[in-house]
Amino acid sequence: MRYTHSNSANVTIHPSQFPDVIQRQLIAALRRGDVPPKFLYDSVYQTQKWLNVHQIHSPSQIDQEVNSVYDSVFDFGFNQVHEMESALIGLGCGGGKKDAICLSKLKIGSGLLHYVPCDVSQAMTLIAREEVGKNLDFNKIYPLVCDLSESDNLEEFFDILLPFNHKRIFTFFGMIPNLEPNLILPKLFKMVRKDDDLFISANLVPGENYQRGIENILPQYDNQETRDWLLSFLIGIGVAVDDGDLNFCIEPEGELLRIVAYFRFSRSQVIRINNETITFESEQPLRIFYSYRHTVNTLNKCLLEHDLKIIFSKISKSGEEGVFKVKRSV
Ligand SMILES: C[S@@+](CC[C@H](N)C(=O)[O-])C[C@H]1O[C@@H](n2cnc3c(N)ncnc32)[C@H](O)[C@@H]1O
Repeated sequence: MRYTHSNSANVTIHPSQFPDVIQRQLIAALRRGDVPPKFLYDSVYQTQKWLNVHQIHSPSQIDQEVNSVYDSVFDFGFNQVHEMESALIGLGCGGGKKDAICLSKLKIGSGLLHYVPCDVSQAMTLIAREEVGKNLDFNKIYPLVCDLSESDNLEEFFDILLPFNHKRIFTFFGMIPNLEPNLILPKLFKMVRKDDDLFISANLVPGENYQRGIENILPQYDNQETRDWLLSFLIGIGVAVDDGDLNFCIEPEGELLRIVAYFRFSRSQVIRINNETITFESEQPLRIFYSYRHTVNTLNKCLLEHDLKIIFSKISKSGEEGVFKVKRSV
């Protein structure tokens, strides 16, 4: 059989996603009573479930106008022609659809383009590879599996994957809600050089009243598709769906509000991972999901606290999605 580039792929795995590391993190997190977001995208099954949620509920998929917001920010960002090799590094690339649009807007020949789909989920990096590979040579796509919150040396990996002089464009789409700002923003600052471009997008809380605005968007989370996706994690560790109840609520965290989902066990449970046991008592909650929802002001403040500055932004008419071009301020 003759393989083409589309059916064999070289994937780089950062040590933060080696199996023993993942297993230790999972056991420690369950014992603490929470699930780090990265475990919600782990398997191919979970990836499919999330892509389904995304397709049905994400403003970028259901509101045509949101796409024009991305278009406007890319058009602003790439108004000049750069005839030099350029690499787009998609941090938390997901299915790669937004990165594909970003790449299509770059005003340079495709022969000069490179793409690094970077995600905690290998399945996502490969789906993004397929998506971008519709218009870019597979030889110029370098999937990188890593945990962004646990990696401090990604620079070294980018230098190995892209060993030539190039302009760098980072995307960080839909990532702000699921990562702790004080943990991820210093890493983002360190990763991005002064002359790199960084594009960030976030689901926002529309309206003047932060609390009421977030209450109004709760149904975007508390729905069957999201429940199926979140429960697929529990099924993966041997918990049955009827071993407890999944409930969504709104919680303050510092100055921010976030939507949180807890699974409350209705009977005691012993979970076995490798040779370790984790026990949950009846009525014990396990925090399985959180999503920070920002306003433009809270996002701007968080970024500035970490020396990242919004230099151009566009907000959808619904006020529910914002796309930002960001630079290091120092
Ligand atoms: C909400 S999705 C956004 C996907 C895509 N950027 C988009 O906007 O459509 C979050 C993505 O981040 C990835 N992810 C979650 N935690 C991560 C982590 N700690 N490091 C790297 N990727 C992570 C998930 O696998 C998922 O693909």
